[in-house]
Amino acid sequence: MSVNSANRITLRRPDDWHLHLRDGDMLKGVIGETSEHFARAIIMPNLVPPVVTTADAIAYRDRITAAIPTGHEFTPLMTLYLTEGSNPDDVEEGYKNGVITALKLYPAGATTNSDSGVRNFDKAMPVLERMASLGIPLCVHGEVTDPDIDIFDREAVFIDRVLDPLRKRLPELRVIMEHITTEDGVEYVKANDKNLGATITTHHLIINRNAILVGGIHPHFYCLPVAKREKHRLALRKAATSGDVRFFLGTDSAPHTDDRKESACGCAGIFTANNTVQLLAHVFEQEGALDKLEGFASINGPQFYGLPLNGDKITLEKRTEPASFAAKIETGDGPVTVFNPEFPIYWHYAD
Ligand code: DOR
Ligand code: ZN
Repeated sequence: MSVNSANRITLRRPDDWHLHLRDGDMLKGVIGETSEHFARAIIMPNLVPPVVTTADAIAYRDRITAAIPTGHEFTPLMTLYLTEGSNPDDVEEGYKNGVITALKLYPAGATTNSDSGVRNFDKAMPVLERMASLGIPLCVHGEVTDPDIDIFDREAVFIDRVLDPLRKRLPELRVIMEHITTEDGVEYVKANDKNLGATITTHHLIINRNAILVGGIHPHFYCLPVAKREKHRLALRKAATSGDVRFFLGTDSAPHTDDRKESACGCAGIFTANNTVQLLAHVFEQEGALDKLEGFASINGPQFYGLPLNGDKITLEKRTEPASFAAKIETGDGPVTVFNPEFPIYWHYAD
């Protein structure tokens, strides 16, 4: 990466290590927003019904590939949804054939479409043991679902009650704590070894929980794990911009149509696929760490997953006029509101 001047940076093309694309008309409507900016993305399997088998992943991958706009070079990296009934042989075959890159653990009930997730970890041990022996990464939605646990504490409690015991049981399992939102998550990663990494979203670097609740309820700032208090946002910014190779970008860009967000029971999910790269340049500049952006967005992720780095480059430049982003993405299912940081962004793609 070169920081050519204070106003111009060139970096390897980024990847997104956590992305929701959905299916059907929504997939067709949003895929281009990712494939324009990213070379690869880890595709979340929480469809209805979920992507559970290698055959499901092949069929879903083919639907994604068919929807990529002409001229875009993009590789979807498929995941399987870990269930108590996941078949270790099917997982092994999918991995060895290059169909799947990782499995995803959703504790049952933790978030959107997570009902098929794991309730009893003993039942998932055969597949987890196989993954550990083959080096297949496990992407983890790290929140407990116990109704007695306050929603703002669910990540920290998950670390103590679920993640740490699992890692002690299977230390060689490669684990990615997805979309960490707390200082506790940052500290847990830092205290562990190379088999543990974490993704951080763009929006959790920008908003804290006030954004959701102050001055009225703002459904387009609501996601899971929910944004926490300011000290956690600051810890995430420090981790992302630190150069520590265990932290990397996973946008968790998660499209829901406006009618499902702006509702008495609104869905969790924030859409950042189209403006993430420019927003990150802003955040890293604010932290005096533009030289760390390439590591976070383009290097640490593939290195954790053992994949090659992207060869092509992008250049961003800071201009005096603000960048403009589509406020909504129109899809066949309806409009999807784009994350609005509510401050101007001066970083543009240089062309
Ligand atoms: O906010 C979220 N939205 N968090 C998740 O974990 C799931 C995602 C979705 O699928 O909409
Ligand atoms: Zn997600």
